[in-house]
Amino acid sequence: MSSCEISEPQGDMIIAMTKTGYSEKAARYYFMKPNMGRIENADQVANFEGTCGDTMTIYLKIKDNVIEDAKYEVMGCAGAISAAMAAVDIIKGKTLDFAKDVNDGTIFQVLEEIPEKKHHCIQLAVKTLHKALDEYASK
Ligand code: FES
Repeated sequence: MSSCEISEPQGDMIIAMTKTGYSEKAARYYFMKPNMGRIENADQVANFEGTCGDTMTIYLKIKDNVIEDAKYEVMGCAGAISAAMAAVDIIKGKTLDFAKDVNDGTIFQVLEEIPEKKHHCIQLAVKTLHKALDEYASK
C-alpha cells in the first residue's frame, strides 16, 4: 500500500468530507495529517493565534536558506489542518524567499477546494509561516 492509499473506513470518511465542500485532496490532508507534529532542535518555531481562537505552531529546519523540513501542530478546524499540511508540502525543500511568497492563493491551489466559510483558515497557516520566517530573518 503506498502512502497515498487509504483504508476502507477512512475512505468512507473522506468521501463524506468531500460532500461538505472539501476536495478529496484536502480531505486526505485532513485525515492523514502527513506533516503534523514537532521537530526537535528546530531552527525556528513560531506560534500564531487566529481571530477565531484556533492556534498553530510551526517548526522549521533550515540550512543554507533552504527549508529542509517543516511541521505544524494545529489546534484548529479541518480547514486549518488541511491548509497547514499543504503548506509544508509547498515549502519543503524550497528557499526562504520562496516560502515568503507563499500566500492564501498558493495553498488554496494545492487544496483545490475547501468550503468558502473555511477560506480564512488558510490564513492561519500562512500567518504562522510568515511569523516564523520574519522571526528567523530578524535573528
Ligand atoms: Fe479557526 Fe478554521 S475556524 S482556523
